Amino acid sequence: MRRDHQVSVGGIIIASLLLINIVIAALAWIVNAKIAWWFILTLPLLLLALRDVLQSKHAVIRNYPLIGHLRYLLESIRPELRQYFFESDLDGRPFNRRQRSIVYQRAKNEKQTVAFGMQTNPSAPGYEWVAHSIYPVKLQEKDLRVWVGNYQCMQPYHASIYNIGAMSYGALSKTAIRSLNEGAKLGGFAQNTGEGGISDHHLHGGDLIWQIGTGYFGCRDAQGRFSAMAFRKNALRPEVKMIELKLSQGAKPGHGGILPASKNTPEIAAIRLVEPGTTVHSPTHHTEFDSPKGLVQFLQLLRELSDGKPVGFKICIGDQQEFIDICHAISVTGIIPDFISIDGAEGGTGAAPLEFTDHLGMPLYDALAFVKQTLETYDLNGHIKVFAAGKIITGFDILKVMSLGASACYSARGMMMALGCIQALICDSGRCPVGVATQNPALYRGLDPADKRVRVANFHSKTIEATREIMEACAFRSTEDIVPSKFFRRINEYETKSFEEIYFKLKDSSLKSKMQSSLN
Ligand SMILES: Cc1cc2nc3c(=O)[nH]c(=O)nc-3n(C[C@H](O)[C@H](O)[C@H](O)COP(=O)(O)O)c2cc1C
Repeated sequence: MRRDHQVSVGGIIIASLLLINIVIAALAWIVNAKIAWWFILTLPLLLLALRDVLQSKHAVIRNYPLIGHLRYLLESIRPELRQYFFESDLDGRPFNRRQRSIVYQRAKNEKQTVAFGMQTNPSAPGYEWVAHSIYPVKLQEKDLRVWVGNYQCMQPYHASIYNIGAMSYGALSKTAIRSLNEGAKLGGFAQNTGEGGISDHHLHGGDLIWQIGTGYFGCRDAQGRFSAMAFRKNALRPEVKMIELKLSQGAKPGHGGILPASKNTPEIAAIRLVEPGTTVHSPTHHTEFDSPKGLVQFLQLLRELSDGKPVGFKICIGDQQEFIDICHAISVTGIIPDFISIDGAEGGTGAAPLEFTDHLGMPLYDALAFVKQTLETYDLNGHIKVFAAGKIITGFDILKVMSLGASACYSARGMMMALGCIQALICDSGRCPVGVATQNPALYRGLDPADKRVRVANFHSKTIEATREIMEACAFRSTEDIVPSKFFRRINEYETKSFEEIYFKLKDSSLKSKMQSSLN
């Protein structure tokens, strides 16, 4: 009641002002045209104010006509204001300014150093470090590579330990995909296609890890089922070095995807083997298998159809028992995948529901430690290489995940930043200001592959260089020496623990009981 009363008073006042303004403007026009302009120009403002008090959608605007708009204006530029004016070097999520800056500096091959010392607080819980040695070593190998492909694989791949994470053409623009591929070629590392299939923009000479999701894009029949013929056609491409079956993704585990009809252009439809102009759903689960045994048998089918290329699966760990069951199926069938990609819950995405992004899935370090122990228990660690993904953008990040069992890593958002991503956090709007995550030609044309491919290659090579330098300082002669007992984290003001203590102690018994239930 009271509110209605206020609004009607406000409305009456503004309507009266409007009327007075019109009358004065008309009179002024007769006497002096110059003064009349002032009144004419204020008319739109008064009309807007009248609209404000009459609308009922925004209470702030209704209660504070005209001025209320300031709230929405400032809110719309809040991220920019924060980032440009108020953010400290250690602020900013998911990547703080210091992290973003090092990616930009490495990509541009600019100054690689920081001045005046540590900015983080070493007494704060969460602070991490690695034990160096007073007897550093010199590594001969410049490149840091790992062989992927066990004795069941016919075409093992000598992968870089740092590769471009899965991001589809569709989530990223054509110029972004092309720049990443050309960067991969320049630097001799691999680009994961993401589940959206292989486009022409992926075919500029860089090595590909072809990812297949639940939509089977690029290897499906008209009904959306897996097509062996279509798969083989793409799998045999010389650029395709490995095949990754996606079970789940850290930012939205257990969530399917939708390709809206508006984004399903004839080009995208041809790549994904779907009907153009229709809405296409990626189911939440695979339709080709429904058990751990079915999964490994499907992987074997992919291995055979690809003439023995390395095959693996990507997973964000949820229910631990399900992963143990997969290992059990591997040991029962004797079909051993060549690699497993572990995505942490902290992983990125173009678009996902908030609850899935913030609360589903196991964080990367816990997941890696669990996977390492499970593979060891089943005696599979020598045969299956683990790839890690989740905020790995510096040499220290790479070494930490290697200490927990990874043999190689992916970077998705790091590579986006190498392309010029400014962490505007609007990948899901189609308005990415730097042309990375958009299909708008006016925006992606600004991203020049000739320049950006060099940045991608630089970011990779400088990060590998930093990794090697830390290995030398810590006297890690090979990746085997990167052990969890050398990495530490502060737990509270008085206590620090090694990664060995945090992630690998006291967990054996619970693992054994889960293994037992897999046998039953
Ligand atoms: C724009 C974007 C698109 C992505 N698309 C896929 C995808 O198609 N398939 C997939 O498995 N993961 C996808 N991801 C997740 C990444 O591959 C990666 O697992 C995750 O972001 C963690 O790595 P990061 O922290 O280096 O970004 C996407 C991530 C981003 C940011």
